[in-house]
Amino acid sequence: MKSMDEERLVEAVRLVGGAKRLVAFTGAGMSEESGIPTFRDPGGLWDRYDPDELGGGDLFSGLLSGSAVPDTTFQFISEFLACYEDARPNPGHDALAELERMGILRAVITQNIDNFHREAGNTDVLEVHGNVCRLSCMSCGAKVRLEREELVAMGHELLDLLGAGDLAGLMRLISRCSCGGACMLDVVGFGEPVQQMPQASHESENCDVMLILGTSGVVWPAASLPVRAKRAGARLVEVNATECCFADIIDVGIVGKTGEVLPRLVELVKTGR
Ligand code: APR
Repeated sequence: MKSMDEERLVEAVRLVGGAKRLVAFTGAGMSEESGIPTFRDPGGLWDRYDPDELGGGDLFSGLLSGSAVPDTTFQFISEFLACYEDARPNPGHDALAELERMGILRAVITQNIDNFHREAGNTDVLEVHGNVCRLSCMSCGAKVRLEREELVAMGHELLDLLGAGDLAGLMRLISRCSCGGACMLDVVGFGEPVQQMPQASHESENCDVMLILGTSGVVWPAASLPVRAKRAGARLVEVNATECCFADIIDVGIVGKTGEVLPRLVELVKTGR
């Protein structure tokens, strides 16, 4: 007699292996095994910081206006850098990249800003909350990619300048676009417009199977995407370490860590081909 989870994994393998247009929808749980804290798990970031105090993704626009940076923002940046500097994509990210190489996964729609899906090798990645390894010009909207090392160096310099109260230095730190405009981190803060939702909605409404991976599904409009997929007739497979948050609409729910479940799922899809 197979365990319930084994049966669910077998069904997930059947759906993923037979998918014509598989899409993955991911959240912070995907990067938890890389050492990046999630937001709403016990002890998570929103247990320790108030997101409304962090100034959103346009931290630099606050600096430009000469407003002081809240201490919590300083601590948040310090903690993020300490985690991010040595963190790398984990086997869960690698498994999704493998599914793309196998020609099964069409797109990753992620709420994460850590760039790990791209670092792992996925090429069609829709980042609805932005990407911390990208700057956006506040004047012309041009996007500038940042290498991980550039981001970390910029983060440490920002902390040093903030610590010294060196506003002139901060103004020099802010990258300038070729149009002369100031650039800010291309991440979406609470209350700010999300990115690439039309493309994410299109992929959700045109997939036949959606993997829902490591998300509490509480932040809209991103959390509407699995509902859109369901309405369009897709089968839904959720993997979550503690509980399936889309239990009322999924076809298969697996309680487990994505860094453990996804590599096993890909291995079984391969043997089944
Ligand atoms: N494997 C699978 N699931 C995991 C793992 C793991 N290793 N670790 C944690 N989880 C699950 C948790 O059980 C939780 O349901 O991942 C989910 C993480 O939920 P949140 O912390 O709420 O993160 P997320 O859903 O991505 O939040 C969405 O909220 O604050 C905003 O912008 C922020 O993009 C973020 C959005």
